[in-house]
Amino acid sequence: MKRLIACTLLAFMLFMLFPFGAKADEGMWLPMLIQKYNFADMQSKGFKLTAEDIYSVNQPSIKDAIVIFGGGCTGEVISPEGLLITNHHCGYGNIQKHSSIEHDYLTNGFWAMSRSEELPNPGLTVSFLVRMDDVTQQALAGVTSEMTESQRVEIIKKNSDAISKEVTEGTHYSARVTPMYNGNQYFVFIYEVFTDVRLVGAPPSNVGKFGGDTDNWMWPRHTGDFSMFRIYADKDNKPAQYSAENVPYTPKRHLPISLKGVEPNDFTMVYGYPGTTQQYVTSQAVNEVVNISNPLKISLRDARLEIMENYMRQNDTVRIQYASKQAGVANAWKKWQGERNGLIRLDAINKKQNLESDFNQWVSQDPNRTKEYGHLLNRFSELYTARKPLLVANDLGREAFMAVELIRFVSQFNSAIKRVLTDKEVSEEMLETLVTRSRGFYKDYYQPIDKEIFAEIMKTYAQILPDSLLPNALKQLVASSGDNWSVAAEKLFNESIFTDSTLIINTLADFSKENAGKFKNDMAFQLFAQHDSIFAASIDSSYREINQELDLLYRTYIKGLMEMQPNKTFHPDANFTLRVTYGKIEGYFPSDGVEYTHLTTLDGIAEKAQMGVYDYVVPEKLLKLQAEKDYGRWEVNGSVPVCFLASNHTSGGNSGSPVINADGHLVGINFDRVWEGTMSDIMFDPNMCRNISIDIRYALFIIDKYAGATHLLNEMTLIE
Ligand code: ARG
Ligand code: GLU
Repeated sequence: MKRLIACTLLAFMLFMLFPFGAKADEGMWLPMLIQKYNFADMQSKGFKLTAEDIYSVNQPSIKDAIVIFGGGCTGEVISPEGLLITNHHCGYGNIQKHSSIEHDYLTNGFWAMSRSEELPNPGLTVSFLVRMDDVTQQALAGVTSEMTESQRVEIIKKNSDAISKEVTEGTHYSARVTPMYNGNQYFVFIYEVFTDVRLVGAPPSNVGKFGGDTDNWMWPRHTGDFSMFRIYADKDNKPAQYSAENVPYTPKRHLPISLKGVEPNDFTMVYGYPGTTQQYVTSQAVNEVVNISNPLKISLRDARLEIMENYMRQNDTVRIQYASKQAGVANAWKKWQGERNGLIRLDAINKKQNLESDFNQWVSQDPNRTKEYGHLLNRFSELYTARKPLLVANDLGREAFMAVELIRFVSQFNSAIKRVLTDKEVSEEMLETLVTRSRGFYKDYYQPIDKEIFAEIMKTYAQILPDSLLPNALKQLVASSGDNWSVAAEKLFNESIFTDSTLIINTLADFSKENAGKFKNDMAFQLFAQHDSIFAASIDSSYREINQELDLLYRTYIKGLMEMQPNKTFHPDANFTLRVTYGKIEGYFPSDGVEYTHLTTLDGIAEKAQMGVYDYVVPEKLLKLQAEKDYGRWEVNGSVPVCFLASNHTSGGNSGSPVINADGHLVGINFDRVWEGTMSDIMFDPNMCRNISIDIRYALFIIDKYAGATHLLNEMTLIE
């Protein structure tokens, strides 16, 4: 009885705290709306600055220290001289490109001991957000309720282009208009993009990727997942292409670094660019993830990874060539598993179904609601049923067919070949891009891996897909190989001219109609071209059509949900725009009888080193520092803090995001989520969802005591 009272009391208290279903720490908020929606709550949780300190268009604010790093990560500026910190795994591709057997920066790390040693990275950009604005009215100007969805899309596209043009007129900025809440609102984001970004420092992989795939997405974690770059600008502090004349960029704002560390319940805020979430999808969509898409994609990647890893173990050159590719393939593969488990554990499909029946009931109470929303749930059902075979085909296209490197490679020649053969001009630039891409491709290509992947994975592809969706060239190839996929692979790779780097690069130098004809008739290219046209005719457009209608339905559904729950603050799904999420330092209980605390230390690295696991190899020098407790100023309670847990709602893209304390100081760099919480892209669970960050003091310890790059500390603002 006592327990019952206690439970009721607790439930009541929870209800008072989160009266309308808003859960603790869930939400990725738009910086310009913090004042309106979150500030009071943030303050009550300990935040000491103002909303203007987070985001302002009138004065420098923390947002001016945050960047989009490369294609899909976040970074932050930590010195008045454009020094930037992000994750090791975000800089990985670039560190790898500078690496060779002679200069193996992946293995040994890299530290520029002077500015002149900083390494340029063609193609790498960082983007600062100049400003964001609500442009819903302009974006929807001329849109009427009678329009078809594609007419609507067309008008919004036109309006968006006009908005982008207008807001960047006379500047060197670029702009993007992005829908929020599935198109119930529109915002424009204006960016300043820098193109001269140089590598400054990276720890050895045994630090920066410590724990590898064994520990990826998991706690306890000991990864020193950071790397450093510097933004360069022209003499007017404006973006410029790489030039020796460029100078370090002077930012409007850089983040001070706190050396005070973190304690349980401390306020934390993560400021960065989460990629994609789908918080408001229906039960059928969750069913797709749990029972169709994730299982299929996981099994296809199982096969790919096994083959890659087998060859990587046998040969060091191959290990370097495939390091970055393998990490990418393994990363999503493991996440999909955690996400699926988490959704099952949360009983997410049922929860969504309950919400849907509440919604139906709410709709049926009012004829106007019935008119606007009454059709939604049935139509969702119909569309998801129709989508299933298309989804499977689409997954197979991406995860099987296009997983063959050779095929992905030839696909890049498609438009150049088409142009030449129809007497259209192929620009110098287009050819140069192809040459650059070809060089990059061959540098990191090991044919035996690709051949084996082809044999293994295309067999599955051909088994699952109906015959009508298979390229004729593939059927002929396999038939002429006695239905033996290894023989078929052998044949394809022997015959295709795209495996011959010299021939391809020379041909590109003289890209005549005749040469393009040879490319076109190549077996690998034929496979791609046939697949492409079959999918274009039978899959892509139907898939797109269904998705477009789903979009429309979701826009209406979310509007309805908002009306049904007028006191709940809805956060827009992540869409790689700048967001603030806040929570606190806390551990969690991953399973019965197990508690995870919030912090790991260097002692844990030494412990793992004993285990004889490949991913737990520790650099000698680091072990020595640990054994001798040679920690200098970085010692805390007899060790050095390494990683910590907090309850911030993050997603892919938040990698490299700053973790900021109540005073607005940098305490860590976000790099991962815990496995039990990876379903947070679809459903957040305050008990299980934790983000994982490297304690900034570990990064500083590595820079200072391990790498001896102490000069870098001098340009930072360290708060003791
Ligand atoms: N899971 C983290 C993220 O999604 C880290 C990935 C890099 N590490 C790795 N072992 N693949 O990006
Ligand atoms: N490692 C992820 C990234 O690259 C962050 C982890 C997550 O998905 O939360 O963005």
